[in-house]
Amino acid sequence: MPQDKVAINLESLGRAAEFSLLDGSQGVPAIDIGSLYKQLGVFTYDPGFMSTASCKSAITYIDGENGILLYRGYPIEQLAKQSSFLEVAYLLMNGELPGDDELLAFTDEINHHAMLHEALRSFFDGFHYDAHPMAMMVGVMGSLSAFYHSELNMEDPEHRRISAMRMLAKVPTIAAACYRHSVGWPFVYPRVDLGYCENFMNMMFSLPSQKFIGKDHYIDPVAVKALNILFILHADHEQNASTSTVRLASSTGANPYACVAAGISALWGPAHGGANEAVLSMLSEIGSVDRIPEFIAKAKDKNDPFRLMGFGHRVYKNFDPRATLIRETCHEVLEKYSDNDEPLFELALALEQYALKDEYFIEKKLYPNVDFYSGIIYKALKIPEEMFTVMFVIARTAGWVSHWLEMMAEPSHRIGRPRQIYTGYEKRDYIPTEER
Ligand code: CMC
Repeated sequence: MPQDKVAINLESLGRAAEFSLLDGSQGVPAIDIGSLYKQLGVFTYDPGFMSTASCKSAITYIDGENGILLYRGYPIEQLAKQSSFLEVAYLLMNGELPGDDELLAFTDEINHHAMLHEALRSFFDGFHYDAHPMAMMVGVMGSLSAFYHSELNMEDPEHRRISAMRMLAKVPTIAAACYRHSVGWPFVYPRVDLGYCENFMNMMFSLPSQKFIGKDHYIDPVAVKALNILFILHADHEQNASTSTVRLASSTGANPYACVAAGISALWGPAHGGANEAVLSMLSEIGSVDRIPEFIAKAKDKNDPFRLMGFGHRVYKNFDPRATLIRETCHEVLEKYSDNDEPLFELALALEQYALKDEYFIEKKLYPNVDFYSGIIYKALKIPEEMFTVMFVIARTAGWVSHWLEMMAEPSHRIGRPRQIYTGYEKRDYIPTEER
């Protein structure tokens, strides 16, 4: 079949060239402009990467118009309902669902690597008691670069695999330690008899002096199920800002722990993973259902920087399939923990309904995204607000390491180095201070 070509004719410069279309297995084709500068002497300009594919990847597929999200071909709805987070992490990293033995071996290895080096515990002492847990996450994940030198030959697939497993295994332990440092509680070691999500809840909330906290057992099955679903939904989202950051940092050949720390930094922002924390702050600021119209008006006012947190998405323009799934989980969790934050949930639902009927939000296709609900679930599970983005980090580490493994296995990968359109001064001469 003849392949479409894209012809570019720069008449004023007297240059012309043709470029091929690249097709994936599904989705939007891309114009291969790798030789554009060589052939025509021009760059492309695409701030925010609105139309630019930065790599080829076989991990996650998103069709934003139709609300489709597939991990390695499997619909997110099926994985959220039938799988577990560790099985999904295996799938993302290895490309196929594991057999029983493979999953057992994977789980054993995660358990084996879940502890932190004792020397790492003292890193936490350097943080002030009120340090934001995300600041600690960036620092502690990055500091893993100072360990494990013997397995850092990035040409060796086994070294890469072990590095990825270490990050996935240790991230809940680090996350819980960040929380416990902030409340001054002793750190809890991971336990091999608990699942990934159960272990995290245990490391977060168990006290040496008591097994239960009030009526909420910290490894309650409803809480564990909710965490499992949330972690699955957040595990990967193709070339989002933090994953692209991990890929760009890794393209230099930098230490993988440092690259994932860079991803954690990128995730922190309120336009990305920080949104779930921002949703809760926004709901507190709105305070009651009767104040919703006032805040909707602020969100629509071009002169007001306020945005409705948890609404809109760069890719999903009809609905976010993760938001649909998480909404159900939110109901289940609130039914169990009904005395916790029902007014907040009611406010969230009222806001959702109001925005869904508003012309501005309909016209701009601004629907609730996954983080509109995730913060409410975390709050019901007594996870403090500053930890919400940390929860996202735990889940997204599965995606980051999978993309890192994929990229590092490509023989042709090269350093990522975007171009720019320079808008500064032309060459000018230095003026000594006394003459300025
Ligand atoms: N509230 C009010 N107006 C909005 C909102 C919002 N939440 N989001 C977008 N708009 C408007 C925006 O002002 C713009 O209007 P106009 O066309 O008149 O200039 C239009 O909608 C398009 O917005 P955009 O900023 O060009 O869209 P984007 O694709 O660059 O940004 C976004 C996507 C997620 C950063 C943005 O929708 C936003 O800031 N949402 C709130 C933060 C949030 O919930 N982020 C979590 C995303 S989901 C988690 C993840 O995957 O990381």
